[in-house]
Formats: sequence, structure tokens, C-alpha cells
Amino acid sequence: MRLSVDTVTSFLHGRGVITPDTPTTATVLAGGVSGATFLVYAGGVRYVVKQPLPFLAVADEWPARQERAGVEAAALGWLADLTPGHLPRLLDYDPSEFVLTMTAAPPGWAEWRSVLLGGRVDVAAGATLGRVLGTWHASSAGAPERLATYGDLTMFLELRGDPYHRTVAARRPDLAEPVLACLDELLTRQSCLVHGDFSPKNVLVGAAVGAADASGTPAADLWVLDFEVAHAGNPVFDVAFLLHHLVMKAVHLSTTGSAGARCAAELLACADAFRAEYAAAGGLAVDEAAVVRHTGALLLARVHGKSPAAYLSADGAAEVSALGAHAVTGELGSVAELFPHAPGPPADQPDVGRTVSR
Ligand SMILES: Nc1ncnc2c1ncn2[C@@H]1O[C@H](COP(=O)(O)OP(=O)(O)O)[C@@H](O)[C@H]1O
Ligand SMILES: [Mg+2]
Repeated sequence: MRLSVDTVTSFLHGRGVITPDTPTTATVLAGGVSGATFLVYAGGVRYVVKQPLPFLAVADEWPARQERAGVEAAALGWLADLTPGHLPRLLDYDPSEFVLTMTAAPPGWAEWRSVLLGGRVDVAAGATLGRVLGTWHASSAGAPERLATYGDLTMFLELRGDPYHRTVAARRPDLAEPVLACLDELLTRQSCLVHGDFSPKNVLVGAAVGAADASGTPAADLWVLDFEVAHAGNPVFDVAFLLHHLVMKAVHLSTTGSAGARCAAELLACADAFRAEYAAAGGLAVDEAAVVRHTGALLLARVHGKSPAAYLSADGAAEVSALGAHAVTGELGSVAELFPHAPGPPADQPDVGRTVSR
């Protein structure tokens, strides 16, 4: 049964999540070929209902795709115990229809991606994300038996390895070796629970960011969503995944807006805060050279892979590609060098921000 905005309320009645006499309204939050997400108001409570669907374009090769809902349900349960304030709470999972019901973020919360693309960079959000991710990686690494249930990498290969690394390798044979070396590292080190889509589009932020928590660490009102690609994997992937998004935002804002240098500096500060809090929380991906190489592979993927970043201009894409090439081959030694538009770059940095190879 494919849920629609007309059937989602009766589905929740059937599952016992809400009683039939509760007044409800339902709206579509996101819908497409990969899945559908609904927001349901019932009795003053807001629920999110999510049902992934088979990827129609590759349905023949992907018959079990909806089972990623079960992965998401399991990961939500595990990680909520570790960082309860930073992800939705799973209320119900229907394994026969692959439907998750979870708590909804408060009204007014926004996708962090849109906030960043609007040129508003909150360093505290980066710090909070680092703490959350570091906690997940550290804790899951200490639970090998539970981690083993996420050991199947088929989904990760189909959603990341093939469309990203292997496609870049085919389209940029000059860079195939370092890019495939990254993929090999991702497939052969299964040391912790990796989110797999740790991207600003899967982060919701509240208005009241920047407050301090009890430990004095800056905290942000922030949830991480979308655990469908969770797997036992290499922690460097999540760290590089977030960083490559911050780098692309910096390039984009620098090539399209007048406040580019300020935004790039803030995005670099955000990346630094993310990595510092990640390490402080016990996160495992702390080898900066590896982080930079993997970030480079992902930057290349967003230009030459199967899911190019839609918001990049031609110049922006060329610059991201050049940065990615420098990074994946080991020419860049630090995360700071991935942000050439931020003021005060190291003197010996390759001039990737201005000399664009096409
Ligand atoms: N618990 C939630 N509260 C509020 N909004 C949500 C929630 N879950 C998902 N959304 C919204 O729906 C969108 C799609 O959900 P997501 O879990 O990311 O699925 P998809 O796999 O389709 O990307 C999110 O980007 C977010 O805007
Ligand atoms: Mg998503």
C-alpha cells in the first residue's frame, strides 16, 4: 500500500498511534520517486510519517529497496538513546508496509541547507553536529555485536560507492586511483555506525541556536534526520560528507554573492568547530590527511558523479572539481586549504580558488 495524504490518517488509526475520533490534518512534506513524507497534526500533536518506495528508475535491480526503512527505524532507536535531543523519536514502525512514524520537529525549524545557502552560518550548529556525530561513532564502535547487524554494504554501494566513487573513476580516469583507494578504505573498515547521508539537507535547525548547554559547550537546537543509509562503516565518510557540503557552500557563496569571503570564513570556522567537537566526543576520524582526501573524492563526485550539486554554477562546479582533485591526490594537507576563499589562507597553499582548471 502506497500511502497518500488521503490515507495517512487512517493508517495511523489502524496502527493505534491516534484514536479515530482525533481531529487531524495531513500535508505532504516531501514526495518523489524515492519516498514520501507526511506531516500529520492530530489532537495538538505533530507526527511525521515516512514511507520509502522502490527507486522506480532502477526497480528491476533494486527489489528490496524499501527495507531501508527498517534500517532507519533501528538506527533511530539506537541513536536516540545516545543523543536524545538531536533526532526524532520513533513512535511506530510497520515492517509490512515499511512505514515509520516519528515525532515532528517544532514548527518554524528549517533545513540547515537552506539557512546556509542564504548565507547564514551558525558555528554552534557545526559544533553540535560534531558532538552528536562523535558520540555516535565512539559509542557504536564499542558495541560490535549490535554494529554487526548493520554490516551489509549493498545499500551503501548502490547509493554512494557506485554513483559517486566508481562513476568519478570512470569519467575521470586520471583520478581513478586515489578515488578508488578512498572507496576501498570505506568498504574495508567497518568500525562504527556511519550515518551515510550526514548532509545539511538532513539537518533541521531551530531559531534559538547558539545557547550554551550545562557543560558550557555551545549548543544548537538541531535534529539529524534520514538514517536510511546507516551502515557499519568507516567514520571518515560522515566527517568528509559534512565537510564537502560546507566546502561547496563556501564556493557557491563566494562565486555568486558579495559576502563570499565572510561566509567562507564562517564556514571554515563551522568546519573547525565540527571537527573539534567531534574529536572531543571521542570520534574516530581524526586523521586530517584522510579526511581531506575523502572530502576531495566527494567533491569530485558532486561534479562528475551521478548526482551533481544542482546549485553550483559552471564556474563553481569547475572550482569544486579542481579543489577535489587537489584534495584527493594529497596535494592539500589541511581542512583549511579546502576553503581558499576564507581570508588568511596559508601562504604555501595551491591557488585553487582562483586558478580554475577546466
Ligand atoms: N521528524 C521530522 N520533523 C520535521 N520534518 C521532517 C522530519 N522528518 C523529515 N522531515 C522533512 O522531510 C524531509 C524528507 O525527510 P527525510 O527523512 O530526509 O527523507 P528522504 O529520504 O526523502 O530525504 C526532510 O528533509 C525534512 O524537511
Ligand atoms: Mg533526506
